[in-house]
Amino acid sequence: MAQPLTEAEQLALLDRLADGQWHSGEALAAGFGIGRAALAKRIDRLQDWQLAVESRQGLGYRLSASLERLDVAALAAAVPGLRVTVLPVTDSTNSRLLEADAERDPQALLAEFQTAGRGRRGRGWASPFGASLYCSVAWSFPAWPPHLTALPLAVGVACARAIHAQGLPELRLKWPNDLLVDGRKLGGILLEHRGEGGGGCRVVIGIGINLRMSNEHAQEITQPWINLDAALAARGRASVSRNALAQALLRELDALLRAYATQGFEPLAAAWQRLDLLQDQAVRVQAGERVIEGVARGIDAQGALMVDAAGQRHHLHAGEVSLRLA
Ligand code: BTN
Repeated sequence: MAQPLTEAEQLALLDRLADGQWHSGEALAAGFGIGRAALAKRIDRLQDWQLAVESRQGLGYRLSASLERLDVAALAAAVPGLRVTVLPVTDSTNSRLLEADAERDPQALLAEFQTAGRGRRGRGWASPFGASLYCSVAWSFPAWPPHLTALPLAVGVACARAIHAQGLPELRLKWPNDLLVDGRKLGGILLEHRGEGGGGCRVVIGIGINLRMSNEHAQEITQPWINLDAALAARGRASVSRNALAQALLRELDALLRAYATQGFEPLAAAWQRLDLLQDQAVRVQAGERVIEGVARGIDAQGALMVDAAGQRHHLHAGEVSLRLA
């Protein structure tokens, strides 16, 4: 009976096809020292990762789009204080790190493909292979940091800085922590935490940033969304390297979390306010049965959104409310 294909063999084939060009079946098969039938089987297996491979008589095989795989050595070198792992496939990088050994913190986990990517408020997160960035960082604070409730907002600042550095200074934040450009969602943050005994606290910060996702893979997304490549192209700017973005993101997060342990949100409040997409905008907020229609007035020291409505100021906490521009 044929041996099952190993992940390393599957990745080796993928790397040969990663340029998105045609590769003859004969050359591919010879390169792996296998026959044409075995090659066809390996190509079929790439569909396990929902990768579309075209085949054409006389031309061979090609991926429907080129692919830049994450380079774990380069990522680890960029952030020596973080233990970095890259998996080709996992259910959800957040779920994996929530279950991972906290002794290994601080640690980062990135995946090329998530089979059960999770978004906020119980939603899913579209995570096709190599098309976007799926990254989680687990961090153990020995003592409860100041303003933990504002940490998701601080992470938004770190993400914005990493994206600005890729040539998109137009990126803004929509409270609590959506990454938006041109009124469309470019990325999101899912922060999960568990209080620990002894006064400490462990957080898992998950970040998804759309880079070059196809419309086909985005069918389940119910809100306006955008790829980083498209936002750059619309401005006549060059596309970015996934690895460069991932490195910038990890560096920003590492610096942020180190400082947050002692300083909390305060040093970042002004930066967040400059990125605030909702400032002075009319908003409609739903908190359970309650609907508030008012004007957004920035955030308080805890990271709660302040909304003025009918002569009253409301302080709204993330997780309790859903919000849209009125
Ligand atoms: C949102 O709904 O805006 C948050 C999206 C967070 C998605 C990221 S992708 C990496 C990490 N793993 C997950 O399952 N979710 C987060």
